[in-house]
Amino acid sequence: MLEDIKEVLITEEQIAHKVKELGSKLAEEYRDKNPLVICVLKGAAPFMTDLVKHMNIHLEMDFMDVSSYGNRTESSGEVKIIKDLNTTVQGRHVLIVEDIIDSGLTLKYLVDLLRHRKAESVKIVTLLDKPHRRKVDLKPDLTGFEVPDEFVVGYGLDYAERYRNLPFIGVLKPEVYTAE
Ligand code: XMP
Ligand code: MG
Repeated sequence: MLEDIKEVLITEEQIAHKVKELGSKLAEEYRDKNPLVICVLKGAAPFMTDLVKHMNIHLEMDFMDVSSYGNRTESSGEVKIIKDLNTTVQGRHVLIVEDIIDSGLTLKYLVDLLRHRKAESVKIVTLLDKPHRRKVDLKPDLTGFEVPDEFVVGYGLDYAERYRNLPFIGVLKPEVYTAE
């Protein structure tokens, strides 16, 4: 698996440090608000589980799976709900936890949906952002790292469902894509 990596962009230590910083900020912000922390599956799962360990407040977690990608590396623009929330969001302070924002289409859809369901507030924390790729007007409230316009894997992010278990964020060797 490691032999497929061209370059490490963000190390395990850098991620851990940043996640702690983000979690502490969020704990301040959501103290006494019992936020509903929503993980966007599958990519945001490692980030979310690490993040909440640094939020020393009462909160609830839920999971949602939406898809606009399949196994390709470009957004189709279509968003499909694969798994919906188990929780009613009406009147709740909702925090969406995302792995990466690219075109913004996925999150735009989610934010609109949660507002439509009458959430009291909707905020976004993303580990990674590719701001230059945006197709819709969408800004995360908190960002871990900005990354260049390259396809990245690791710490939840996959290529064709692989590499999610890497502890760092890296870039694949081009031959990994072209081997198919
Ligand atoms: P949009 O374009 O809707 O896409 O903002 C967000 C989703 O696209 C996936 N994505 C990536 N996944 N490496 C990945 O493994 C990447 O570089 C990348 N860029 C976008 C991801 O699922 C994200 O939630
Ligand atoms: Mg995702």
